[in-house]
Amino acid sequence: MDDSVFDRAQDFAARLFEGDSGGHDIYHTVRVHALARTICEAEGGDEDVVRLSALLHDVDDPKLFGGGSLRNARRFMESEGIPPDVQEKVFAIISSISFKGTGRSVPESLEGKIVQDADRLDAIGAIGVARAFAYGGSKGRAMHVPGAESREFRSEAEYRSSDGTTINHFHEKLLKLKGLMNTESARRMAEARHRYMEGFLEEFMAEWDGSRRRHLHD
Ligand code: ADP
Ligand code: NI
Repeated sequence: MDDSVFDRAQDFAARLFEGDSGGHDIYHTVRVHALARTICEAEGGDEDVVRLSALLHDVDDPKLFGGGSLRNARRFMESEGIPPDVQEKVFAIISSISFKGTGRSVPESLEGKIVQDADRLDAIGAIGVARAFAYGGSKGRAMHVPGAESREFRSEAEYRSSDGTTINHFHEKLLKLKGLMNTESARRMAEARHRYMEGFLEEFMAEWDGSRRRHLHD
């Protein structure tokens, strides 16, 4: 596939995400695309399908665009004359990658597993911490409330309507992602990001309750 298709896919996604501050800005897509390419190099799979799916993975997000119609992805791929068999693969991937609270939906294709892993890697580590607080802030949620329990969600709707704290989101979702990686490469990449989040939570709690006495110079 001509490389310029991927540039145009990125521009297409960028225009759709304009003005979004809830964790779906275009740079999330750019990072997922880069991560997916790295994983694909190690794991194999059709690179064109991986790249297109990564760049289009959020363009029909029901939270942002309603429905679940794949309308935007279809419009882009039709206008580019992407072969129908490639389009079908990309649709299958886009509709199955999101982990929605309870979800254990795993894409069937290797390409889909790679894009799902890349999307999950971008939800953990330092970027994951930043995205979680940006998202929580955009929804007016508290960072942390002592005594607020984290929950297991039984449905997508329950997960979406939760007004839980952002710290609880780490326990409800982010700390679980390492164990849900599909590919060995992503599992390895998740290790350091996971440890970083655990360190962050430990430091956060220690500072919160005033027990943090260590100084940077100790
Ligand atoms: P996806 O990219 O799979 O669609 P989401 O839309 O669920 O993921 O989340 C987008 C970003 O916002 C992620 O970084 C996620 O961790 C974060 N996020 C989602 N729900 C919450 C929440 N309740 N509290 C804090 N951060 C959240
Ligand atoms: Ni995403």
